[in-house]
Formats: sequence, structure tokens, C-alpha cells
Amino acid sequence: MLLIRNIGTLQTPVGSFKHGGEKQGENIKLHNAAILVEDGIIKAITSDGALPEGADKAEIVVDAQGRLVTPGLVDCHTHMVFGGYRQGEIPLKLRGAGYLDILKAGGGILDTVGKTRAATEDELFAKSMAFLNEMIHLGVTTVESKSGYGLDLENELKQLRVNQRLNKAHKMDVVSTFLGAHAIPEEYKGRADEYIDMLCNEVLPAVKEQGLADFVDVFCEDSVFDVAQSRKMLKAGQKLGLRARIHADEIEEIGGAVLSGEVGAVSAEHLIATGEKGMASMAKGGVIADLLPATSFYLNKTFAPARRMIELGIPVAIASDFNPGSCPSLNLQLAMSMGYIKYRMTPEEVLSAVTINAACSCGLEDKIGTLEEGKQADIVIWNAPDMEMLVYRFGSNMAGTVIKKGEVVL
Ligand code: NIG
Ligand code: FE
Repeated sequence: MLLIRNIGTLQTPVGSFKHGGEKQGENIKLHNAAILVEDGIIKAITSDGALPEGADKAEIVVDAQGRLVTPGLVDCHTHMVFGGYRQGEIPLKLRGAGYLDILKAGGGILDTVGKTRAATEDELFAKSMAFLNEMIHLGVTTVESKSGYGLDLENELKQLRVNQRLNKAHKMDVVSTFLGAHAIPEEYKGRADEYIDMLCNEVLPAVKEQGLADFVDVFCEDSVFDVAQSRKMLKAGQKLGLRARIHADEIEEIGGAVLSGEVGAVSAEHLIATGEKGMASMAKGGVIADLLPATSFYLNKTFAPARRMIELGIPVAIASDFNPGSCPSLNLQLAMSMGYIKYRMTPEEVLSAVTINAACSCGLEDKIGTLEEGKQADIVIWNAPDMEMLVYRFGSNMAGTVIKKGEVVL
């Protein structure tokens, strides 16, 4: 058993459901609290100086020294398995080339596709293990990881196998998403419909059969996949039992958010350019908005209308979008600070965004996302007295001690 005592403030959302509207900002705050953990599960939580029954039997005792404790962070949108890097794109960007211009010219995602195809599964695995180590030190205890740099049967499966191996080999929980429809590969140039058919008929069934993904995703974007193609992809995935998520309205508003509500996607992601129609569809369909503020920063774009979404009752999650192009940062704490300053979300709303709502977006809300009895003991002790301090100190790593499944990681 593990006992965490002397917690100054234990702050957490409560309940295993999407926290939208008013609920987005509802956290409980327990003072002078303690948590008792047995077999990786939270057994009891107490406050006001009391210790849980059986606390004296704990073999490991961690003194939180009056600091803030929250659930482990959940990064619900990453592209963390990739070959190479793309630092050479930045000078082009600074000279005025747009993200989609670079992609159209065969760079961007397609550049990473070449490097990912050239990498062995073991190379990708080793590289991603190091990313997971970095993330867990930043307080992230669960991560979603998308494929989408293979774009053919062999290489999409290779990327997804890496996700599976990471999930087994690393303490971190890794949720796997099939994003074969991330770009149109060179060999299908001008034949996007045929590419989508190939994904639906050949790759998706193999992904399903080998149990390599829980989610299906698509990059619904101007000059990438249109709404009809995206709908086809998501529905084909849903038919096989995968849950849908969608890259929607990242650069242009072409109807991705509207589609997310229509198909009952778990989440729509990016949403920089989403307007009222898209948000109405999301609100109606109970779709989570996975917002990626560090990508807005890195692409020099505006920030998604988070406050309007909260007003409409749409549950907001915040994620890193870690990838080699539009966001080469895996620091979810940085994204949280951007949520605070650029989305104007309160510290409480930000915490729900990176815990319970992100957990819902990964389909793991029964297991993680809050600190409650019976939930997995994924816990962070922060080098901060409260959430205000945590989101204020942008750019620093404020994680003190990270506990994953009841095990002290650092
Ligand atoms: O979420 N927009 C599509 N996918 C990623 C970027 C991937 C890349 O540039 O390599 C994103 O921003
Ligand atoms: Fe993305």
C-alpha cells in the first residue's frame, strides 16, 4: 500500500462523465488531505488532517509537503510515433508558406511519411519510448497516439504496432487511433476517393482484426479529405466497432465539426476555424472539443473559441497535438497555460480539460481522469500550492512527484 499524506490541496473533477458548461469548472478542493492506494487503485481519500483507515499499514509513505495534488494529466491528441523531424520547414513558413502549401508541394506530413516508412519498427519504438519518458516527467500519465505517417497497409500497421508495444512496455497508458486518412500519399495523388476506399477495404479490416486501434480519425480539411470522404472513413470504422474522432476545421471551416455531431464522434479536434453551425452540431451530438492551443501558436493562427463552446455546454479538452510539423512540443503543461491565457479558461476548467474530459475523449473515464475511490492511482504532486500557480508559471515543468498505477515514477 502507498499513502500520500500532507496534501495541501487535493483538486479534482468528480464523476466519470463529460464535464461541459457549468460542470467544466467544477472541481472539488480538499485541504490537508491524504490518499491511500492499494494494488494501483485509490482505496480511500480523506481531508482536514484525517488519515484513511489502514494508513498505518502503508509500506510506502509520500509526504506531499503541503503541495497541490491532481489526477495525472491525459494527453488526448498526439502524433507521437514518427520518423525524422521537420525543422527545415520553419524558414519556409517564416517566408510566408502556409501549412497546406507545404503539404501540397509534397512536404509537411508527406515528408514525415517518407521518413516513417524508412524507419524500422524498433527505431520508431525506441524514439517514442523516449518521448513517453519526457511526457511522464511532465505529469502526463495517459496519452493518445495516432498513426497517419504510414499511409499504406504495411506502414500504418507498423505504426499501430508501435502504439501497442509502447502500451505494454511503458508505465504510461497509450490509446491507439487509426489515422490512415491523414494525407493523400503521393501514389494516390489526385485519387483521394480511391485512397479512402483502399483504407476502408484493406487497411481498416486488418487494423480491426489485429486489435491495433480503438479509434478511427480523419483529417477533414481543404485539399486533404472533404466531408463526404471523411464521413465514409469514419462510418467504415464505426461499423467495425472503432469509435470516431475527427481533425476538424484546423485551417479552413469545411464542415468537419458539423460532421462530428452528425456521426456521433467522441471528439472533434483543433476547431480553430469552427463557427456557430459546427458548434451547434457538436453541442447536439455531445461531442467533446479537443483543443490544441500550442498548434495555434506554432501555426501562427487564432485560438479556438473555447469560451463560446463552454457557453454552449460543449465539454472542452486540451491536448498537446505533439507532432513533427504543426506542434513539435509535447509539453501539456504549456498547453494548459495557453488554455488559461488564450482561451480564457479558469484554472478549474483547464484541470477538467486535461483530466476527466480528456479521459472521456480516450474512452477511459471509468478508470482515470479524477481522484476518487476505485479509480486508477494516476496522481501528480505539483511543485505549486494551487492550480493558479501551476497554469501561471508557463514553460516550467511544475511536476514534482508522478505516481502511475500506484507506483512512484519520479
Ligand atoms: O494535428 N493536421 C493534421 N495533423 C497534425 C499535423 C501533422 C504534421 O504536420 O505532421 C495536426 O496538426
Ligand atoms: Fe493532430
